[in-house]
Amino acid sequence: MTNIEMKFLPKQPLEMHKVRIVQKLHLLPLEKRLEAIAKAGNNTFLLKNEDVFLDMLTDSGVNAMSDQQLASMMIADDAYAGSATYYKLEDKVTSLFGLPFFLPAHQGRACEHIIAKTLVKPGMRVPMNYHFTTTKSHIVLQGGEVDELVIDEGLKLQSTHPFKGNMDLEKLRKYFSQYPKEKIAFLRMEAGTNLIGGQPFSLANIREVVSMCQKHGIITVLDASLLQDNLYFIKKREEAEKHKSIKELTKEICSLFDIVYFSARKLGFAKGGGLALKDKDLYERMKELVPLYEGFLTYGGMSVKEMEAIAVGLDETMDEEVINQGPEFIAYMVEALEKHGVPVVTPPGGLGCHLDAKSFLPHVPQTEYPAGALASALYIVSGIRGMERGTMSEQREPDGRERLAEVELLRLALPRRVFTLSQVNYAIDRIVWLYNHRHLVGGLKFVKEPDILRFFFGELNPSSPWQKQLAEAFQKDFGKSL
Ligand code: F0G
Repeated sequence: MTNIEMKFLPKQPLEMHKVRIVQKLHLLPLEKRLEAIAKAGNNTFLLKNEDVFLDMLTDSGVNAMSDQQLASMMIADDAYAGSATYYKLEDKVTSLFGLPFFLPAHQGRACEHIIAKTLVKPGMRVPMNYHFTTTKSHIVLQGGEVDELVIDEGLKLQSTHPFKGNMDLEKLRKYFSQYPKEKIAFLRMEAGTNLIGGQPFSLANIREVVSMCQKHGIITVLDASLLQDNLYFIKKREEAEKHKSIKELTKEICSLFDIVYFSARKLGFAKGGGLALKDKDLYERMKELVPLYEGFLTYGGMSVKEMEAIAVGLDETMDEEVINQGPEFIAYMVEALEKHGVPVVTPPGGLGCHLDAKSFLPHVPQTEYPAGALASALYIVSGIRGMERGTMSEQREPDGRERLAEVELLRLALPRRVFTLSQVNYAIDRIVWLYNHRHLVGGLKFVKEPDILRFFFGELNPSSPWQKQLAEAFQKDFGKSL
C-alpha cells in the first residue's frame, strides 16, 4: 500500500496487492434488513453473516490471507509433539521480538489467562494505559483490580494528540508511591489501544514507563495484538524514530518488556496467539499452564496450518508496503466523514473508524445505549455491521445500576486487504445520510440481559417505533434502490 499523489483525482490510498480469490456479497433489501436486525435483538453480534453486506464488526481473524500464507499451510508439518512448523514459528517470534522464550496459545485471551493466573493474586492491582474487555475479565477472575492511567487526552474523542494511548507518567509516579511493589502484579501497555479508538503510544513514552517499572521492580507486559498500526504511527508521527525500519522498531519495542503477548487473529493475519518472554523463571512458571489449558507445548491449541500462516503473516504484517493499509484506509474514511460534520474519533487511529455515538445521537440517553442504537440504525440503512463499544459492553454494578461507559463508540473495523475503496466510499455515503437523519434514531432497551458479557448475547427492543420511521425516510430518499 502506498499513498500516491494523483494528477486528476484527489489523493487516495492505493492497494499494493491484487485480489485472486473473491467471495460474493449480498445486500439484503431494506425490509429484510429490518427483519434480520429485529431477529438479532438489535445486537449486531447476533446477526447472521449471510444477512450482512460489509462486515465491519472486527478485524479479528478476518484479515485476508496472502498466496504465500496459503502456500505455507500446505507444507505444515503435522505432529502432536515437536513439529517443524512449531520451531519455525518459535524462531520467527523470538527473532522478530528480540526475546528468547516463546509459548504458544490458541488466541490472545488465552495468553491473558496464563499471565493472570501466574501473576495475579487476590487483592493485587494491574496498572495499564487502558483495559481491554478480555484482559480485565481475566485479571478480575483472579481477584485482581485494573487501574487505567492513560493520559487525559486519551479520553478526549476529538483531539490532535498523536499518541493518545500514552501512559500518564505523573499518574504512574503517584501510583508507585501509593502502592507497594508487592501489591502490583504487573504493568500492562496495550499497543494501538483498542477501546479508545485504536490509539497508539509513542516509543518515548514506553521507554519511560518501562524504566520506571524497572526501578520499582515491576514486571512489564506488552499486549502486541494491535502492534502493527502502532508501529506505523510511531514511524509516521514520532520524529526521532522515522529513520528506523519497521522490524528495527518491533525489536526495540518488544525487547523493552518482560512479556509480550499477541492475538495472531490480528497480528499475523491468521488465527492463534502466543507469548514471548525475557526471563527463564517466568517462562518455566507459565509453561506449565500451556499443556493444561491450551494443548501440548508445540502447538498450544493451534492447528499446524495456522502456525505456518502466522510465521509468514508476521513478516507480512511488518512489510513496509503493507503496514500502512489499515491506517491509510481508516484515515481516508475518518477524514471524509469529518468533512461532512460526522463526529468521529480523531486523530484517525488503527483497527477501524470509530463514530462518536454520544455526539451523533445527543438525544439518546446513555441508559438507552446510543452506540448500540447507532449500530442497529447503520445496519438498517446500509447492511453494514459495526460493533458497539459503549455502555452495552459494560457490566452493571453489583447493585444493578448501569455503569455508564466513559466513551460511546460505534467501531467500524477495517480488516486488512479485505475491502476496496469503493466499499469504503459506500460506507461513508450511508453514514453521512444517517447523520443527516439522526433525529429519527431512538434508543434501545434490553429484553434479554445476561449477567456476564451481555454485549455478546443480550437482546434489545427499540424504545419507540423509530426504526419504522427511519426506514420510511430511507425509502423516500432511495426509492426502490437497496
Ligand atoms: N488484546 C487486544 C488489544 C485485543 O484487541 C484483543 C481482541 C485481545 C487482546 C484478545 O485476543 O480475540 O485473540 O482472544 N480483540 C478483538 C476485537 C476481539 O474485535 O477487537 P483474542
